[in-house]
Amino acid sequence: MKADRLMVLLLCGLMIVASSSVLAETRAGNLKEGQSLYQQHCLKCHGATLDGKGPDAASLRVRPTDFHKYLSRVKGELELEVTIRRGQQLTAMHEWDTSLTDQQVYDLIAYIRSAVPRLEMKP
Ligand code: HEC
Repeated sequence: MKADRLMVLLLCGLMIVASSSVLAETRAGNLKEGQSLYQQHCLKCHGATLDGKGPDAASLRVRPTDFHKYLSRVKGELELEVTIRRGQQLTAMHEWDTSLTDQQVYDLIAYIRSAVPRLEMKP
């Protein structure tokens, strides 16, 4: 009985290690692709320097996020991913899940986080 339990624990551990390495591989974003996707789809609102001042920004009631702001910089990749995929309710940030592939979403996140690295949360 004890040996069985140990076996189950070992198997669970192995599965966690295996799945996290698979995740790490498939989620790696391509910077160059991300940059060109950004210029194509996001720059008009979020701006060439990611400051939220793209050519279309001035006409929006809720201004596009300035990625240099503290509250944006402390966000992890998953938080950025959720907004890119689902959009931000009641703003011009629509969902991109239907028009971008998973890899393109990861490429965009890699580009955003290389241009503006994440900050540690310090309230
Ligand atoms: C039509 C204008 C527009 C376009 C195009 C646009 N966004 Fe946005 N984006 C916004 C607005 C507006 C917000 C919400 C700002 C707020 O809630 O204060 C936002 C928010 C976001 C956020 C959340 C940031 C945070 O710190 O919470 C991310 C991430 C984001 N956009 C990524 C993208 C990416 C990647 C693209 C291109 C694929 C894109 N956006 C295209 C207008 C736009």
